[in-house]
Amino acid sequence: MTDTPNPEATPRIVGGRYRLEERLGAGSMGEVWSARHVVTKQEVAVKLLFGHTTRDERGVERFLREVQVAGAIGHPGIATVYDAGRDVDGSLYIAMERLRGQGFGEWIRAENPSLVEALGVMARLLEAVAATHAAGVVHRDIKPDNVFVLDGPQGQRPVKLLDFGIARHVEGANTATRTGFTVGTPFYMSPEQAMDPRRCGPPADVWSVGAMLYELMTGHPPFEGETATAVCLAAVQEAHRPITEEAPMVPPALAALVDQCLAKTASQRPADGAALLALLRPIIADLSGVAVPVGRPRPAEGEERDDEATLATRSGSLELPSPRRWRWGLLLGALGAAALTVLWLSSRGSGARAGRRARRCA
Ligand SMILES: Nc1ncnc2c1ncn2[C@@H]1O[C@H](COP(=O)(O)OP(=O)(O)O)[C@@H](O)[C@H]1O
Ligand SMILES: [Mg+2]
Repeated sequence: MTDTPNPEATPRIVGGRYRLEERLGAGSMGEVWSARHVVTKQEVAVKLLFGHTTRDERGVERFLREVQVAGAIGHPGIATVYDAGRDVDGSLYIAMERLRGQGFGEWIRAENPSLVEALGVMARLLEAVAATHAAGVVHRDIKPDNVFVLDGPQGQRPVKLLDFGIARHVEGANTATRTGFTVGTPFYMSPEQAMDPRRCGPPADVWSVGAMLYELMTGHPPFEGETATAVCLAAVQEAHRPITEEAPMVPPALAALVDQCLAKTASQRPADGAALLALLRPIIADLSGVAVPVGRPRPAEGEERDDEATLATRSGSLELPSPRRWRWGLLLGALGAAALTVLWLSSRGSGARAGRRARRCA
């Protein structure tokens, strides 16, 4: 598991100058801690690579890339890197701007934002994605876990795009991925990235943002499966279920844009983050004041929500939830979609179609 603390990788003072204080999170590469510089007392976040990754050449390469790429883009939507190095025990670390907030999925779950508000956060994410693409870099791992929503006034939450560990320059060799190492998260991975991670350009990130948008509106990613391979195969071979079927309340222009982001052929998607942002902005402006729920319907009062099945837990590693939890998530997703569909159809007085659609979703 990726979130198992590694005692070897968590010395109290890292690099002779960062005193670790609190574990903030973990991802596929390591752990992130809040820390304080022993002399200046500046608060930072220290990312420590798991022991095994630091002995792995690809892990070291990935680490160096993260430091260099994130630093080179220099956008407010990307955490500033202050320092990086190797600790006495050999483990690699990055010291960066300490962020306060929560992951995108957690934010959705905790704050229950309106669709307009959630799209506002997605637009701010796209500003960082656009800057990344303008710098000639493809992130290749955009997913809810790597999008951090900062604390701040409602409706204006700043966003930071995290984790440039597998980012790569569009032009340029990259030995770490030449070995055929498949990188990224299957739920948000474009078909071309699933087929060949070396060949993907900005449209692969557009797909990932599209998959997040799809999940925002339907409550589940566009492609699912019991294994990472099954998810990737589905993304390559199958059509996603149209948003208009699953979440009929979503405005058609928005549904069409998300469908475009999820086009199998990269050239049929918006070309990059800036192009997608330009198409999304007028849709958000038109939506102001329209109440559209995010994800699957909220549970009734007193009813427990199964967080396993929410966007918050469609996590980042290539490890999928256990089949039992996975099936449970799928069942809930199907029920949620069926409920929404029935609601819509009954409002249009079409009971027969509702029954058919509900059977199909279940
Ligand atoms: N600068 C930061 N400040 C606060 N928390 C952070 C920071 N960077 C990362 N995190 C937390 O740590 C988690 C893992 O970080 P990430 O960079 O995605 O690591 P990995 O490469 O291991 O996936 C994030 O999902 C987030 O919750
Ligand atoms: Mg991550």
